[in-house]
Amino acid sequence: MHTTQEKYIKRFGPLRIAEHWLNALTFILLVVTGLSQKFHNYELSQWVIMSFGGIDTARLVHRYSGIMLAVLTLQHVLVASFGVIALKWQPSMIIHKKDFQDAIANIRYYLGLQEHGASCDRFDYKQKFEYWGVVVGGMLMIGTGLALWFPTIVTHYLPGELVPVAKALHTNEALLAVMVIIIWHIYNAIFSPEVIPLDTVIFTGKISLSRMLHEHPVEYRRLSGEPPAIAEPQAIYEPGDYQVPAEEETLQDA
Ligand code: HEM
Repeated sequence: MHTTQEKYIKRFGPLRIAEHWLNALTFILLVVTGLSQKFHNYELSQWVIMSFGGIDTARLVHRYSGIMLAVLTLQHVLVASFGVIALKWQPSMIIHKKDFQDAIANIRYYLGLQEHGASCDRFDYKQKFEYWGVVVGGMLMIGTGLALWFPTIVTHYLPGELVPVAKALHTNEALLAVMVIIIWHIYNAIFSPEVIPLDTVIFTGKISLSRMLHEHPVEYRRLSGEPPAIAEPQAIYEPGDYQVPAEEETLQDA
């Protein structure tokens, strides 16, 4: 819960915010134009396709949005690699042993077997799961999408069986991605009791101090050098797990 007196801390810069908007819009376009082709018998799909001006335009929009997704994914991988290697950003999405311990700690907490839930760093294990799902799933959609787009080039170098395999992967991963986004991401970002009616952090770039202390106490302590001001759950982490503070990570008032 936020109060009007609440202090806010900077969490994301304008580039991260723009990247999220672009990814969200591209994903929506791909889902709408892709699923309306997959389920073309439905009246809603016919309406969507006709709203795009017919099947040819809908297919074109799908392919150009696919290029957009490829560009976004490539720039993300390049920027993240450059940031971590050259600018010494903290690789905050790397999965550690502590993430598994955190998941177990939270399950034990929900079952009433321990007094406190996990105490997490910049991104918790659920956020890392979603992030890697988007990155790996995105690469799979890009690879299989290109194989469907250019089957003659692909089969010039690789066995022809790859095209139906690409089609099966593309169409089923699309359904999986939609379900994960609707059930997991939208729940966490909109309907979870902790954020309802909307988690605004990725739009404003600011997080309230109380949420920071509750959701990312390890990051707060690492950046501020202070112990969290509220009762903190038992941190389960090895002291050398978190090394180089990220350049972009600063504990600034927003
Ligand atoms: C999250 C991303 C994506 C989703 C959810 C998605 C979804 C879909 C779906 C549901 C279909 C219909 C499959 C069927 O008829 O069974 C499809 C077809 C297709 N997709 Fe994607 N797709 C995505 C990304 C891409 C990308 C990145 C590309 C290209 C680089 C691409 C290119 C194609 C092509 C070429 C087809 C065949 C239909 C056509 O000829 O236009 N897709 N997609």
